[in-house]
Amino acid sequence: MRIETLTDTIGVSVSDMTRADLLDPALSDDLLDLLEKNGVLVFPDLHLDDPEQIAFSRQFGELEILPIPGAEHPEIFVVSLDPDKALSAEYLKGTFYWHIDGATVDTPNKATILSAHEVSAVGGETEFANTYAAWEALDSDDKTRFGSLRVEHSFATAQGRVHPEPTDEQVRFWNERPSKVQPLAWKHASGRTSLVLGATASHVVGMPLEESDALIEHLQEWVTSSRFTYLHEWQVGDLVIWDNRGTMHRALPYAAESGRLMHRTTIAGEEPFQ
Ligand code: SIN
Repeated sequence: MRIETLTDTIGVSVSDMTRADLLDPALSDDLLDLLEKNGVLVFPDLHLDDPEQIAFSRQFGELEILPIPGAEHPEIFVVSLDPDKALSAEYLKGTFYWHIDGATVDTPNKATILSAHEVSAVGGETEFANTYAAWEALDSDDKTRFGSLRVEHSFATAQGRVHPEPTDEQVRFWNERPSKVQPLAWKHASGRTSLVLGATASHVVGMPLEESDALIEHLQEWVTSSRFTYLHEWQVGDLVIWDNRGTMHRALPYAAESGRLMHRTTIAGEEPFQ
């Protein structure tokens, strides 16, 4: 396998692997290790079908199963803004904002895998930020200051960014999903620490709102600065896996009519925020 670094802080491209190599259990520990160290692995030009993507994904942990009656592959979540193709098209505009999957639950997903079936001629790139590297690069005073802060996250906060003038019905629906207080600095069992931010971040608990808004904005800009990010420009057939514990991501805006179509598998979380 050929491994090429994509940026100084995040992302490697993994090529010269056959589909059989990808499904070789002997390589899965190495790939998981590579993922933990680099945040994002890009496998160009693979063209996996759904059963192959599911088999590849299963090597890294248990897969989330979607409650879609009659689905042939309930492990596959279709990412498309076209409501005829994707059940969640309405909410996927939220993915245009930086986020961590599962920021409003106790144990977020471990990793996510996207396979590109159709790409958009304009927009639709996916951008990733390394939240481990952004923590590491803070000075020690900031680490001390931020190390014990807690931030409330909610679905409503994220959707409010997409719909700044929501209807009462939208607000009622968003608020059915409970908010969750998470540490700003997630201390992992591995000994590493990552920052927990993104579109779901509402406010720092116990801090005056103005100060909290300024701090969240400042840290969000820090994590997503070019120093810690990688932008993936998709080609049909690419497969990308990201470590959801140590990255944030967003899709760059694309139109519903663009045809962009991704198949996503999600590796269930094992490590709670702490
Ligand atoms: C996601 O946020 O899960 C999807 C990202 C993308 O469509 O690029």
